[in-house]
Amino acid sequence: MRTLTVDLPGRAYDIQIQRGLLDLAGERCRTVLPKAARIFLVTDSNVEPLYLERTAASLRSAGFRVSTCTVPAGESAKCPEELAILWENMMSAGLTRTDAVAALGGGVVGDLAGFAAATILRGVDFIQIPTTLLAQVDSSVGGKVAVDLRAGKNLAGAFWQPKLVLMDPDVLDTLPDSTFADGMAEVIKYGCIFDRAFFDFLAARPSRKELMADIEHILYTCCDWKRSVVVEDERDTGRRMLLNFGHTLGHAYELAGHYETWTHGQAVAAGMVLAAKLGTKLGLTPPELAGQIERAVTALGLPGTIECSHEEYVAAIGLDKKGAGDDISLIVLEEMGKAVPHRMSKAALLEAL
Ligand SMILES: NC(=O)c1ccc[n+]([C@@H]2O[C@H](COP(=O)([O-])OP(=O)(O)OC[C@H]3O[C@@H](n4cnc5c(N)ncnc54)[C@H](O)[C@@H]3O)[C@@H](O)[C@H]2O)c1
Ligand SMILES: [Zn+2]
Repeated sequence: MRTLTVDLPGRAYDIQIQRGLLDLAGERCRTVLPKAARIFLVTDSNVEPLYLERTAASLRSAGFRVSTCTVPAGESAKCPEELAILWENMMSAGLTRTDAVAALGGGVVGDLAGFAAATILRGVDFIQIPTTLLAQVDSSVGGKVAVDLRAGKNLAGAFWQPKLVLMDPDVLDTLPDSTFADGMAEVIKYGCIFDRAFFDFLAARPSRKELMADIEHILYTCCDWKRSVVVEDERDTGRRMLLNFGHTLGHAYELAGHYETWTHGQAVAAGMVLAAKLGTKLGLTPPELAGQIERAVTALGLPGTIECSHEEYVAAIGLDKKGAGDDISLIVLEEMGKAVPHRMSKAALLEAL
């Protein structure tokens, strides 16, 4: 087993990475929830038939009473209506302040169940059991929980750190290739912004099979970077911004495709390539980096470029909540493994594009 500690003052928690960990969920939860009688386990309709019973059985064997709730699979479940259903079901199940909520699923389940945990009874303990690559390397660590509103994604939310994050790499075996690739866009991002050796390690493993052979190391490395950023910058004001590499520009692709044509991972993959090209145009990024990133993402079936009209960029950049006022902070690479924020006016960015 590999363990990382997210050392937030007063709310430190462990991330455990181990094959077969799902069957040990009960005993591991018991160590951080000595007094809880009940765990309210949230999952989605794809994950339920694969992993719910195993996880629930493990929790029961550690003496927890288990209530379960399955939400429809997909982003549309991350909404106030599903949140309200969870709240009501939690109360019907008899959840008390000393009990806990656990999320078994991808980022959607983690964000939704986490926000329910943060708000029900003014907050109960929360366990993350992420089952997608994206959730394991990104959304389950850091404590951001949210639902989407009609006005936009993640607009109602909270910071609510889990008590424990349990990652079983074996559950990734059932992911569709495209969902695995989506997660890999974020994995490659960590290499680009923080860790040149890790980028090279990934580039030398251009298939899912090769990556899965080293998946524990990959999960550990990504979580270690995310952990260090979160501990330094829990509330997302400074260094955590670097994680937006490829995201500001990628957002334009997501928006242009109405969040249907391109997945988040695909948009981020093409966004990273474009951010590298733009960095080169601004004289900040060595010219060979765009090609290196493009080769790494396309090897996994992610797009290296996406066509998007100028108007769509204008709309996306104008709307992007990460930019304040007329200036925008774009994350660019000074070298492979070293990202910096670059402040520029929106007009200058549009010109460069
Ligand atoms: N909180 C954060 O810091 C943070 C960071 C990044 C992304 N997010 C959020 O995460 C969400 C995206 O997460 P996601 O990509 O995991 O999407 P997701 O939760 O929708 O999962 C993707 C698909 O995979 C299925 N699935 C999950 N685990 C599976 C498994 N082991 N085998 C087979 N199928 C499985 C799901 O049912 C779903 O259909 C977005 O809502 C995004 O806003 C949050
Ligand atoms: Zn992302």
